[in-house]
Amino acid sequence: MKSIVFGLQWGDEGKGKVTTYLSRKYDYVVRYSGGSNAGHTVEYGDFKLVHHLVPSFDVRTDTIGYISNGVVVDLEVLNKEVEELKRLGFDVSKRIKVSNLAHVVLPVHKMLDEKFEMAKGDKAVGTTKRGIGPAYADKVHRIGLRLVDFEDKQNALEKLKFISELYKNLYSIDWTDYDKVFEEYEKIRSFVVSPIEIRKELQNSNVLFEGTQGVMLDIDMGSYPYVTGTYCNTTGVEPGLGYPMNIDKRIGVFKAYLTRVGEGPFPTELFGEDAEKLRKAGKEYGATTGRPRRCGWLDLPLLKYAIEISDCTEMIMTKADVLSCMDKILVGVRYTLCGKKIELPTNLEMLSKVEVEFIEFEGWKDLNDVNFKKFVEFLEKETGRKITYISTGANVEDIVKM
Ligand code: IMP
Ligand code: MG
Repeated sequence: MKSIVFGLQWGDEGKGKVTTYLSRKYDYVVRYSGGSNAGHTVEYGDFKLVHHLVPSFDVRTDTIGYISNGVVVDLEVLNKEVEELKRLGFDVSKRIKVSNLAHVVLPVHKMLDEKFEMAKGDKAVGTTKRGIGPAYADKVHRIGLRLVDFEDKQNALEKLKFISELYKNLYSIDWTDYDKVFEEYEKIRSFVVSPIEIRKELQNSNVLFEGTQGVMLDIDMGSYPYVTGTYCNTTGVEPGLGYPMNIDKRIGVFKAYLTRVGEGPFPTELFGEDAEKLRKAGKEYGATTGRPRRCGWLDLPLLKYAIEISDCTEMIMTKADVLSCMDKILVGVRYTLCGKKIELPTNLEMLSKVEVEFIEFEGWKDLNDVNFKKFVEFLEKETGRKITYISTGANVEDIVKM
């Protein structure tokens, strides 16, 4: 069995918790894209984990996590996560594998991310400043450093010096602390594997692919340019692995309302008191940056678009319990522009101008409430997809099969 769990919105749909819950039925959880911009919070009850790079497997089982070459790896972040797990009594060092073709996020990438954002002024994307865009850009510029380069220290050192020179000349960025990179590499070198070696194993195992962010932040199919530097859609699995992979299930996760971090249009956005109420109830603050997330109502045109382009086969809804803080629940059902109905525009100028027609649902006290059942039925009918699980709280066990 091969499945993907991915986000149907702008990230933070609760994929980390869902992936952790589902991971128990799989031998591998594979991260196929993104980097430490991702922040997946998983509450186990007596402890809580925030995953940035370690795949979201249940740490109490023996599922293995593979970080494929589609991911850009900040070695320091990975080491910190592994250390934190050790501190909690989970030695996962035998259960993490990283592709030797994965590119490394260097301090210069984070410095350039910051510099670019500053220079863009009001055109800034609102990145997480984790160096994701610059690391992918250097991969394409063909100057990136891969884990395989460290097999020969001299070779890695020469590459680091070359990158450092380029950054100095092109961007006036000064950085020469190569020792720190080698130090971090030494700590993870036992995790490094060849993607060729692991290919057969993946083919013969039950694998859960873990998406990062959400479809609307996909570099091609998302709300460009307000997107991340890579594939958040289900299409990222193959480029992320470097070889074909047949997938049985594409499980899209969506939140019963909507949030977004960073800039870009958000047609169903709420402001003022209602936004604050939702933000507080849903603890909507970035797991990576701590930024308050922008909050709004569920956007059906956007959800339908994400379902279509991802070929989503089933859905999981999260955080419907949070909506019990609201008396009325709204869902955006149609976009209009100057009185005319329009489909989801890929043209961002239009997306920022559309007006949204909403329909209203009576609020629910809990998820057994008949009002909640009506909400679920409506969404299934509109999207043509089954909601197979509903997450009922923050804890990894708080989930019910439908
Ligand atoms: P970057 O990925 O740091 O380059 O940021 C690009 C855009 O993606 C910004 O709007 C970020 O806020 C957003 N983003 C990146 N990672 C996440 C995430 O894990 N959740 C939600 N938004 C994210
Ligand atoms: Mg997150």
